[in-house]
Amino acid sequence: MKTHRIAAIPGDGIGKEVIAAGIEVLEALARRDGGFTLAFDHFDWGSDYYKAHGLMMPEDGRDQIRNHDAIYFGAVGAPDVPDHISLWGLRLAICQPFDQYANVRPTRVLPGITSPLRHVSGPELDWVIVRENSEGEYAGVGGRVHRGLPEEVATDVSMMTRTGVVRIIRFAFEMARSRPRKLLTVVTKSNAQRHAMVMWDEIAAEVARDYPDVTWDKMLVDAMTMRMTMKPETIDTVVATNLHADILSDLAAALAGSLGIAPTANLNPERRFPSMFEPIHGSAFDITGKGIANPIGTFWTATMMLEHLGEKPAADRLMRAIERVTADPDLHTPDLGGKATTRQVTDAVIASIGADN
Ligand code: NAI
Ligand code: MG
Repeated sequence: MKTHRIAAIPGDGIGKEVIAAGIEVLEALARRDGGFTLAFDHFDWGSDYYKAHGLMMPEDGRDQIRNHDAIYFGAVGAPDVPDHISLWGLRLAICQPFDQYANVRPTRVLPGITSPLRHVSGPELDWVIVRENSEGEYAGVGGRVHRGLPEEVATDVSMMTRTGVVRIIRFAFEMARSRPRKLLTVVTKSNAQRHAMVMWDEIAAEVARDYPDVTWDKMLVDAMTMRMTMKPETIDTVVATNLHADILSDLAAALAGSLGIAPTANLNPERRFPSMFEPIHGSAFDITGKGIANPIGTFWTATMMLEHLGEKPAADRLMRAIERVTADPDLHTPDLGGKATTRQVTDAVIASIGADN
């Protein structure tokens, strides 16, 4: 029997609550499937670790998880640790050196969930956003001089490489090709940003020649926010830069009903390093400890992890269980307008897995 080794990094705030729930669900699923086991190693890295040790994770942290088959990640961020330290010290410290350059964010209106868009009942909104996850605006290049003085100067320089753009555009065309509509929108801002974004557009046109079966178009990022809200049914697969897709995918999550539902995968498609799977949301200190965090995003994330591990039947079984649970409004957490707790939703998903044939 196959054993998949998973590094679990719950992180901070509700990250701890939803990853605990996710592990329970995954273990129930492995028992039900019978064809594989999951071995979890737990890492207590995050803001508490930082307060004790001055680092978000140990110096050799990456070496401790380098040989795992996947990373199951919660969220980072604490009210008393600056966000750029928690983000760069843990999440980006894993994503970037492990070359997880493709960030995949599916968005769908699940059964029982109401989209804030009046004219969307469900099938009109079914997207995958592919985010460049290794460079661009979040490359970390820049600096500050004359700190605190009136003449202070600060820069954040976006870095785009031909290699980096080619691989993400190609990944997005492959993703679009794998979906029934074979439709890709390349998001850009080449009207105002006249160097890197123009190269981005040129590369999209070059790569597109290898995918004559995929229909594609180009859209300025500002216009894209309008299209997502006014004409969601015209969109299928989307590719955008690190910053643009970061923002668009939060909008997408909200349009699909709640940030608490949305999953994401940080993939190293060549599998030279482990890939990392996490809900989109952050540590949500406003609801930490209340037992009401929506675990659905973390469960949906688990389906992406299972697919990556080659356990497609188990992934499908979990997705069916999730959809049966979201279909029941009595099992909605407060972010969805309901009264259910994390515990109740988790128990319901586990029961639904047990009942699935
Ligand atoms: P957030 O995603 O933590 O919360 C935004 C809002 O959505 C809050 O009202 C929260 O209660 C709600 N929410 C989020 N997830 C939920 C869930 N599963 N169930 C129910 N409600 C949920 O974003 P915010 O407040 O901007 O950031 C809080 C901290 O999280 C910050 O330190 C930030 O840097 C960090 N963060 C970390 C991320 C990560 O680790 N990937 C991503 C986004 C933020
Ligand atoms: Mg974000």
